[in-house]
Amino acid sequence: MKIDGTPYRTIWPAADGQGVEIIDQRLLPHALQIITLHTVDDAAVAIRDMAVRGAPLIGATAAYGMALAMRADAGDRHLGEAYQHLLATRPTAINLRWALDRVRTHLADEAPTMREEAAFALAAQIADEDVETNRLIGVHGLTLIEQIAKSKPEGQPVNILTHCNAGWLATVDWGTATSPIYQAHERGIPVHVWVDETRPRNQGAALTAWELGQHGVPHAVIPDNAGGHLMQHGAVDLCIVGTDRTTAAGDVCNKIGTYLKALAAYDNGVPFYVALPGSTIDWTLHNGVADIPIEQRDAREVTHITGRTDAGAVETVRITPETSPAVNYGFDVTPARLVTALITERGICPATQQGLASCFGRAQAAE
Ligand code: MRU
Repeated sequence: MKIDGTPYRTIWPAADGQGVEIIDQRLLPHALQIITLHTVDDAAVAIRDMAVRGAPLIGATAAYGMALAMRADAGDRHLGEAYQHLLATRPTAINLRWALDRVRTHLADEAPTMREEAAFALAAQIADEDVETNRLIGVHGLTLIEQIAKSKPEGQPVNILTHCNAGWLATVDWGTATSPIYQAHERGIPVHVWVDETRPRNQGAALTAWELGQHGVPHAVIPDNAGGHLMQHGAVDLCIVGTDRTTAAGDVCNKIGTYLKALAAYDNGVPFYVALPGSTIDWTLHNGVADIPIEQRDAREVTHITGRTDAGAVETVRITPETSPAVNYGFDVTPARLVTALITERGICPATQQGLASCFGRAQAAE
C-alpha cells in the first residue's frame, strides 16, 4: 500500500544486502521511521517489542530472522537455537510457528553453505505469498461488501466496524480485514469504517486510522465501548476483524475485546466476519477457549499511555494511581458460534470444521 503516495511493504531486504528493513510501528502515527534488522536478535526484539506486529507480519519477520541467523552461523546447532529464540517472542499468533517450521524444514535438507541463500529466498517467498493471499482475501470479502452496498440507498456508505489493526501494517501488504475494504474503496463503493481504538496499545487509533487515512478511506475512531451502542442504532452493517490463531473448529483468537464485539454483533443481528490466511489456522486445536495460549503483556501498557502533545512532543504518561495493579491480556477467543463466516484466500466458509475443510482440504483439516 502507499505512504504519502509511495508504495511500501512492511518488510523488505535492505538494498545494500546487509539486513532487512521494517517500518517501526511503535512510532506510528507520530513518525515514520524505517529501521534495519541485522541479526536474529534484532528480529526477535522487533517482534517482542512490537516494532512489527500482526500475525502474518510476525511470521514473515521470523522467516527473515532465520535468514539473518544463517548469515551469522549456518550450523545445525545455531539453526535450532534461532528457531527457539524466535518462537519464544510471542505466544499467541500461530503464523510465527508456521513460518519457523517452514524455514527449518526447508533448511534441514540444505548443506550449511547453502542455507543463508536458501533462507533469504524462502523468506522472500513467504512475504510474496502473504501479499497475494491477502489480495485474494480482499477479492472474496469484497463480494460481501458489494451485496450490502446494493441493499442500501444510492450513495449511502457501507458501515464496517473493525477491531485492532488487521490492516496492511499487520501483514506484508493489503491486510486481512482491511483488504476487502481497500478493494471496495478502490472500486468506488462507498465505505465508512468504525475503528475501535483498541486499548491498551491503541492499534486501532494509531495504526488502522493512520493507514485508512493514508488511503482516503472514510473512517472514525471510536472508544472500545462504543460498538454495541452503534450496533443497537443500526450504524454498523458488518464487522470484519482479523485473527492470530483459528482452531480447526473455527474458534478465533484475536486482540482483546474482539469477543465483546462479537457478542454485541450477535445480539443485534450484525454479521461478524473474520478474515484470515490459511497460515493462521492451528489444525491441532479444537477448543479455542481452553487451548489457545493467551499472551500477557507488561501492565505498563495499561497504566501508561503515549501520545503527542499539541506542541508536537511525543510523551508517555501514567493514567492510573501509582498503587493500583493492572492486568494485561493481549487476546481473547471468540467461539465459532458467534462468527458469521470466515473470509479466506480460498473463499468464504462457515466457521466450522466442515467449513474449513471445504476450503482447505479434508486431509489437512483432519490432521
Ligand atoms: O498484538 P498485535 O498488534 O500483534 O495484535 C494484532 C491483531 O490482533 C490482529 O488483529 C491479528 O494479528 C490479525 S492481523 C492480520
